[in-house]
Amino acid sequence: MTSANTVRHVACIMDGNGRWAANRGLERIHGHLASMPALEAVVDAALAEGVPWLTLFAFSTENWSRPAGEVGFLMGALANRIIDNSLSRFHAKGVRVRMLGAMEGHVSDDLVAKIRHAEEITRGNAELNLTMAVGYGGRRDLVHAARALAAAGIPPDDITPEVFAAHLQDPDLPDVDLLIRSGGEQRLSDFLLWHCAHAELVFLDVLWPDFRAEHFRHALEVHRRRRLGDVAAPRAAAGGGAVVPKVITLPGVMALHLTGGLLGTVRGTMRAAATHLGAAPPPPGPPPPPGPPR
Ligand code: FPP
Repeated sequence: MTSANTVRHVACIMDGNGRWAANRGLERIHGHLASMPALEAVVDAALAEGVPWLTLFAFSTENWSRPAGEVGFLMGALANRIIDNSLSRFHAKGVRVRMLGAMEGHVSDDLVAKIRHAEEITRGNAELNLTMAVGYGGRRDLVHAARALAAAGIPPDDITPEVFAAHLQDPDLPDVDLLIRSGGEQRLSDFLLWHCAHAELVFLDVLWPDFRAEHFRHALEVHRRRRLGDVAAPRAAAGGGAVVPKVITLPGVMALHLTGGLLGTVRGTMRAAATHLGAAPPPPGPPPPPGPPR
């Protein structure tokens, strides 16, 4: 673990592309297309903030079962938009590119060769280690380590956390200090299970195509405050304080209020109708959701 002001490794679950597109009446691939500026922004923000490790969850093992057109589009985006278009920019900025996960058997040999080439030419860069997790699953990574330990014939008593970590797919990847997930969901989704053992988790309501440097900086600030023991600060800010941009929290708070109000009204109407008809009233149901965080 690092001190409050030092964040060595930030990992991002880039979620919400599909919803961003659906909100505009567009196909999902338009959301993926619109996510490219966010990807550039998060890399630039990590460089500007001096964060040396950034890992982006671009595609999970489960994502291979998405419609072939969407998978093909994403792999094309990886080849054309990220490697062909952005690689020289990343290289000039001192970014070392690495891939994590298993793509072989799912993508063309050309794409695999392109990725290996990108890893090779950026190998000497040290400003930022950018790891793209593609075809990645945390459990798969743990199984990979267990198999490697067994294959190496390591005696059980010699297996320490350090020895185990050395047999994960990328033994260089440090523990995650801060995990950011966009899109409003609050799940790990099988991402970096080993590395996130002590990570701060920051979930943002912003959809990934709208993610920018300010969101990255906000997450760093939440992490810093929590590490300083100022536990109440991020929660207080979410209720309208100065730290969280209102644009992030307002829809969530409104949805919470509306849901609570609507549920109460529906239950009241059912009870009144049941009383009127002489039937047993419906059960009270779960308590309404809590109000906005204070
Ligand atoms: C999750 O949003 C996002 C993805 C599955 C893809 C993320 C990919 C990029 C940001 C572009 C780079 C691509 C590669 C492969 C390097 P979702 O589609 O699940 O959104 P939803 O939750 O709103 O449906």
